[in-house]
Amino acid sequence: MQAQDARKLAVARAALAYVPAGEVIGVGTGSTANFFIDLLKSERIDIAAAVASSQASAARLKAHGFDVLELNDVDALSVYVDGADEFDPRLCLIKGGGAALTREKIVAAASRRFVCIVDESKRVDVLGRFPLPIEVLTMARSYVARELVKLGGHPVYREGVITDNGHQILDVWGLRIDDPISLEARLNQIDGIVCNGLFAHRPADVVLMADATGVHTLLRPDAPA
Ligand code: A5P
Repeated sequence: MQAQDARKLAVARAALAYVPAGEVIGVGTGSTANFFIDLLKSERIDIAAAVASSQASAARLKAHGFDVLELNDVDALSVYVDGADEFDPRLCLIKGGGAALTREKIVAAASRRFVCIVDESKRVDVLGRFPLPIEVLTMARSYVARELVKLGGHPVYREGVITDNGHQILDVWGLRIDDPISLEARLNQIDGIVCNGLFAHRPADVVLMADATGVHTLLRPDAPA
């Protein structure tokens, strides 16, 4: 196994400690989340069911024999476990590299605690090195792109990708995101944007980050216990 995969596996394993027995949990999307899903099975973790942030994760959970519920059919989730493309010192995130940002943001919002699992390559001082994914209505793509240029970004259409919600993705390069909360709110005001990949209004509560020395637990000071 490559070193980076070993780190993803290590943080996925560390996240098992945050899974409350017998409850419905939120499960994210991506290669790190896939390690977590596989460990739920191999370690025989006792969960009642899962709410998945993508069709791909739902399929993987079901293939392992877990029940997958719609978010509409559950109350607030106690925990959501997912990866990220970048995290900053305040545990604000960029997500959406796997095009699942909208459902990820909704499941994170519905969860009391968001445990984010990453390797050290995702750590930045200022968000924006990774292009910011933005899910857009198809008919609004060019209009939204022009609005993003006005904000100083360089949007690139992610060709060939249709999200689980039937929309398209713009990846915005060149943004230095010093104030992610403000930018997230500003982007939410642009008509035609379904969701942007900044998770600042609802950041992670815990980041489990693996590097060559092991798994490090980073806590947001005002996160729920
Ligand atoms: C999915 O849309 C993303 O938000 C993922 O959580 C993110 O891209 C991290 O993926 P990896 O775990 O594959 O790096």
